[in-house]
Amino acid sequence: MILRLSLSTTTAVPVMQPSQPNDLLCRCLGITESEVRAATDYAGCRTLCDIKKTTSAGTGCMSCHRRIKAVLQETVAQTNHSPADSPT
Ligand code: FES
Repeated sequence: MILRLSLSTTTAVPVMQPSQPNDLLCRCLGITESEVRAATDYAGCRTLCDIKKTTSAGTGCMSCHRRIKAVLQETVAQTNHSPADSPT
C-alpha cells in the first residue's frame, strides 16, 4: 500500500498499489490499463463516458483522457478485426 497526498488538503489517502505499477493509466483513481481493457472486453465500454462510469478512471484531473481514448480505439479496432470475423 502506498500513501498519496491530496493537493487540496494535507490528508494522506491510502491507495492500493496496482499489481503492475507500469500499467497504471489513471493516477488519480489508481486504474490500470488492464482494468480499462477489461471494461471494454467484458463490460462493453466503447466511449470515455462508459469507462468513467464503469471504472471511475478519468474522473479526477482528466489528464489521462487521451490515453484512455487511445486504449479504447486500440481495443475496439482489435474487436472489429478479430479472427472470428475474418473470412476463411
Ligand atoms: S490521471 Fe486520470 S483523472 Fe487524473
